[in-house]
Amino acid sequence: MMPLLEVSGLTMKFGSLAANKDVSFDVGEGQIVGLIGPNGSGKTTLFNCVSGMYKPAAGRVVFAGTDVTGMAMFKIARMGLARTFQVVRPLNDMTVMENVLVGAYLHHPSETRAREEAERCIELCYLGEWRDRPAAAMTIGNKKRLEVARVLATSPKMILLDEAAAGLTSTEANEMVSLIVGLRNNGMTILMVEHIMEAIMPISDKMVVLSGGVKIAEGPPGDISRNEEVITAYLGEKFSKRLIESEKLRGERQ
Ligand SMILES: Nc1ncnc2c1ncn2[C@@H]1O[C@H](COP(=O)(O)OP(=O)(O)O)[C@@H](O)[C@H]1O
Ligand SMILES: [Mg+2]
Repeated sequence: MMPLLEVSGLTMKFGSLAANKDVSFDVGEGQIVGLIGPNGSGKTTLFNCVSGMYKPAAGRVVFAGTDVTGMAMFKIARMGLARTFQVVRPLNDMTVMENVLVGAYLHHPSETRAREEAERCIELCYLGEWRDRPAAAMTIGNKKRLEVARVLATSPKMILLDEAAAGLTSTEANEMVSLIVGLRNNGMTILMVEHIMEAIMPISDKMVVLSGGVKIAEGPPGDISRNEEVITAYLGEKFSKRLIESEKLRGERQ
């Protein structure tokens, strides 16, 4: 499989704190890769380096064969790599349509085409009934899907999702998961940070685990949920057993 995103030796420092230390991994075209780790382990910082918000102290980010290290965020987005934010930032005094149009104008300068594209993304994210209503009045579940719709409207090849299911009810989290799987089934490549293991593990082709800014493990979800170092740093014994049990149950049902 062709890697679409290649991160190698990535290091990012805040003063003397290295929030990312020599992190390397690939994301293959059409894959869902889950990035996990304890709070403060450097996941959002990694997204910020990859998406061009921060310039890393060392290392390289290659997207679709082009070295984009330190490139401006809007240029990287224009190349097809876009991200959502952990804390949702919809423009509250705008309607859902206006919010999504902001993304659509990146590739579609004509208003007609931009509107068509925005419409498509709104439907895809189950926001049709909210189209002309103010984003401010929506639930967090709808706001999180609006974030995804805004990013999709930029016509990305790959999206970075930072805790897209955090703070959602289990119904909303399930909707988010099926939305993400639907995107992947239509060819999207996805790198996602998520704390809800039951949401991320079943849909990820591969997991990358950070702890203290360092990559401590990488592999298929079934291996990661059994990995001693990951259990110690993040998952915990009980939770690991529960995950393994649920995998067995899933296996039996299939
Ligand atoms: N802008 C910043 N300035 C200084 N320190 C930061 C900044 N952003 C993150 N950090 C620190 O870097 C470390 C990693 O943070 P972060 O990437 O947000 O972790 P995560 O997303 O995994 O919770 C933490 O110790 C955090 O306090
Ligand atoms: Mg974070």
